[in-house]
Amino acid sequence: MDVMSSFSLAGKKAVVTGGSSGLGAAAAQALAQAGADIAVADIDGGEADSIIAKINDLGRRAIFIRTDVSMARQVEKMVAQVKHEFKGIDILVTSAGVGKKVAAEYLAAQEWEQVMAVNLKGVFLCCQKVGREMIRRKSGSIVNISSMSGTIVNKDRKISAYCASKGGVIMLTKSLATEWARYNVRVNSIAPGYFTTPFNDKWMADPAMSEAALELTPMKRFAAPEEIGPAAVFLASGAASFITGHILLVDGGYTAW
Ligand SMILES: NC(=O)c1ccc[n+]([C@@H]2O[C@H](COP(=O)([O-])OP(=O)(O)OC[C@H]3O[C@@H](n4cnc5c(N)ncnc54)[C@H](O)[C@@H]3O)[C@@H](O)[C@H]2O)c1
Repeated sequence: MDVMSSFSLAGKKAVVTGGSSGLGAAAAQALAQAGADIAVADIDGGEADSIIAKINDLGRRAIFIRTDVSMARQVEKMVAQVKHEFKGIDILVTSAGVGKKVAAEYLAAQEWEQVMAVNLKGVFLCCQKVGREMIRRKSGSIVNISSMSGTIVNKDRKISAYCASKGGVIMLTKSLATEWARYNVRVNSIAPGYFTTPFNDKWMADPAMSEAALELTPMKRFAAPEEIGPAAVFLASGAASFITGHILLVDGGYTAW
């Protein structure tokens, strides 16, 4: 196979959680540009209509399935619906996530649980339920969106539950990669740095916070959401055929200092 066609996702079927917004929306559109049909699974309709329209404009199928990824039954129903409509799932991108900025000594148990429920349990449930289908078919590629915050602590940010959840996603990714390699199911993660998505709107609008974050980023800029797309396509595609258990930092060098 020639090198460029190894990046093609023609005929593939993908589920993207958190696909109504930000990095999930950008990943969904990138996978569609590479040829995949897309199921957007998100708790919120958000921008889903316009994202689905853009994917349809590319000549690909796209469906929205309202799903709370922290609820096992909802994830099961979502997977069953995708299997029914698409007759299989080749790719899973887990981008659904939430943050919580509270000093650790004041973080309520319920706030901790909410972050873990979406960011870690949600990734586990989606990987497990989609992974079973991939194991059955002996083929699949999973890309979990973790964060550079799973490898370092963001300077001066009080986000202990978030960092712990993302560290968990990284180790879950490696664990699943080793368990499922024998079934030809690859499991990798993208660990983003600072991207301009609704997730960061508030603090990025504060010049002092923004400048402090840029100072710590060697490339001296934030990433556009679209910059996640090529990394997602690469890991999802045959171009990454011998890559599993890998954590791909897309962080403008933040963690390199
Ligand atoms: N934006 C960044 O700078 C950045 C950096 C590192 C990691 N990340 C991670 O990337 C992922 C996407 O973040 P984003 O910037 O696109 O944020 P975003 O807020 O724009 O999008 C998150 C999406 O997740 C969905 N979601 C939240 N809870 C859910 C649930 N229980 N079930 C299903 N969907 C749910 C939201 O509705 C939303 O559409 C998150 O996991 C985030 O932690 C983002």
